[in-house]
Amino acid sequence: MKKVLIIGGTSGIGKGLVDLYLKNGHKVGVVGRRTEYLNQIKSTNQNVFIERLDVSNTSKSNDVYNSLISKMNGIDILINCSGWGDINKEFDKEIDLKTIQTNVIGFTQTMNFFTNYFLNKKNGVLVNLSSIGGIRGGKFVGSYNSSKSYQITFLESLSISLSKLNKNIQITDVRLGPVKTNMLKGEGFFWVSSVNDTCEKIYKGINKGKRIIYNDSRWRLISNLLRVIPHSLLRL
Ligand SMILES: NC(=O)c1ccc[n+]([C@@H]2O[C@H](COP(=O)([O-])OP(=O)(O)OC[C@H]3O[C@@H](n4cnc5c(N)ncnc54)[C@H](OP(=O)(O)O)[C@@H]3O)[C@@H](O)[C@H]2O)c1
Repeated sequence: MKKVLIIGGTSGIGKGLVDLYLKNGHKVGVVGRRTEYLNQIKSTNQNVFIERLDVSNTSKSNDVYNSLISKMNGIDILINCSGWGDINKEFDKEIDLKTIQTNVIGFTQTMNFFTNYFLNKKNGVLVNLSSIGGIRGGKFVGSYNSSKSYQITFLESLSISLSKLNKNIQITDVRLGPVKTNMLKGEGFFWVSSVNDTCEKIYKGINKGKRIIYNDSRWRLISNLLRVIPHSLLRL
């Protein structure tokens, strides 16, 4: 039985992963802001441990993580599913800042805490859900796409640094194409995956020790193409 902490486990892909890890007999910690959903998840299974946290509240997060580590008697796998973004057609500062608070500040605090925790413990698995959107810029998604670029580069650097130091810590970047959740805003999406299929791919990929997981192999190809296509094509 593994001890898995899922941050942003109250809905969407995070909730799907909570259900999948529980179904497979693991102990699961769940973090999110919506207390009613946390309580609902807790009421279904005795292997669930919950804490309310807004990840952007950096003065509180270390206490919450330490409390869960103590309640669960340690953590083997950390999966960060917390994330936010919105289409920003009005160039609204609040949307940009809210995105960065969760996807950059909250993300960094969480990654830093668990990198140090796993270094002390001498093993662990650190997983984050980034996005294909993080490869290049796009229409009205400047703060979201750049926050996901930040996450991709942060995890790649962490992976390089830890392997240079010969540390036994797995770093996995789940680089998602569109998945049918409330997060999927806007139009014209194709190859949209279901939450169930996505979670199965993530679960298997983590077990196999993968560095990067795609929810659909076609998105691996697209992300390679995205790196080389000219800026003018992105404007179409
Ligand atoms: N769906 C897609 O097409 C897609 C594509 C690429 C990448 N992703 C990424 O996948 C991840 C999961 O998204 P999803 O599609 O499953 O959407 P979702 O259902 O909206 O899930 C987001 C989760 O993050 C939590 N969260 C958001 N802000 C938070 C904060 N400040 N502090 C703590 N928890 C917070 C939410 O819980 P509370 O509201 O309870 O706090 C919720 O559990 C995100 O990082 C997203 O960027 C999704």
